[in-house]
Amino acid sequence: MNMDTKILTVNTDNIDEEKLKEASSYIKNGDLVVFPTETVYGLGADGLNGKACEKIFKAKNRPIDNPLILHISQINQLDRLVSEIPEEAKLLAKNLWPGPLTMIFKKSKLIPDVVTATGDTVAIRMPKDPIARRFIDFCDTPIAAPSANISGRPSPTNASDVYFDMKGRVSVIIDGGNSQIGIESTVLDLTEDKPMILRPGFYTYEYIKGFLPNLVLDDSLVDDKVIPKSPGQKYKHYAPKAAMKIYVGEESAIRIYDEAREAKKSGKKVGILAFEQDISKFYDFDFVSLGDKNNLLEMSHVLFSALRILDKKGVDLILAQGVEDKDLGKSIMNRMKKSAAGNVIYL
Ligand code: TXA
Ligand code: MG
Repeated sequence: MNMDTKILTVNTDNIDEEKLKEASSYIKNGDLVVFPTETVYGLGADGLNGKACEKIFKAKNRPIDNPLILHISQINQLDRLVSEIPEEAKLLAKNLWPGPLTMIFKKSKLIPDVVTATGDTVAIRMPKDPIARRFIDFCDTPIAAPSANISGRPSPTNASDVYFDMKGRVSVIIDGGNSQIGIESTVLDLTEDKPMILRPGFYTYEYIKGFLPNLVLDDSLVDDKVIPKSPGQKYKHYAPKAAMKIYVGEESAIRIYDEAREAKKSGKKVGILAFEQDISKFYDFDFVSLGDKNNLLEMSHVLFSALRILDKKGVDLILAQGVEDKDLGKSIMNRMKKSAAGNVIYL
């Protein structure tokens, strides 16, 4: 794949609609357009055009059995995409859409097989990012979009990280600056007896339970050894090129320091992900701050780009501080553990 990739820079506070119209013409033509959302950048195609959606899988080397999310910009676009809308979905759509929530419905006949990986359910999200919403409006079709990274790599949260992975593979990248949130949407299945979180995200289990008291977590989110229900959660994911190890607990900075020093002695190039409070210990290594250890919002904002920064420095080993597995920390640790292939030590 080696097509021309056009960059269209759009300012969120003063949206140039002509550029979004131009980008939408590529979608209508069956081509791929990367667009910003409040979570991470999406690799978009016309969600009702099976041939266009197939291009997504090729562009990012995505396994064909991993279904796509359809993105809508208006609630009235939902009806024809699904065969039923449960009351729970109506409640959440009213309160949490537009926003970082993806809901799984029984699909309608309109949806191409490639979108759902031949399954009978479809994932739908209405993003909040104003550029995303305006862009989808102009496309006048639901936009199928996974995160705009090569499969297995950290999701991109800015256009330069998108470009690194997608140059020559997509027609257009809309550059809308840094993603506001930085980790992907919460994926919620509403097609079984009880509503179930398949992928934790910005909206936490604790928060959604306030709307749906019978909410449950997929077993794999409680026990690391269980195989996840959501196809995308099964793969090695968000992975930097380096081996990675996470330490959680009071002594984590000291343990990481000792291990980093040993690894350096044995000739390894070591990268550190540490909290702002501890970062000054690591000036002898390649380091990126995860922000204040109590600021989970900032941490979710910087995590993926931090992994990419260390990758670019060519480190062999990444040692990272982790957080407690609750609230937004659960979503952050979900991504971190996958990056580290489960290599986490609780002190
Ligand atoms: O924030 C986000 O969700 C971003 C932005 C671009 O919207 N998108 C995103 O897409 O993260 P992707 O493809 O990287 O992750 C979608 C996840 C995968 O784990 C996939 O397996 C799951 O949602 N999924 C999609 N359709 C599904 C379905 N019908 N049933 C169960 N899981 C599904
Ligand atoms: Mg992804």
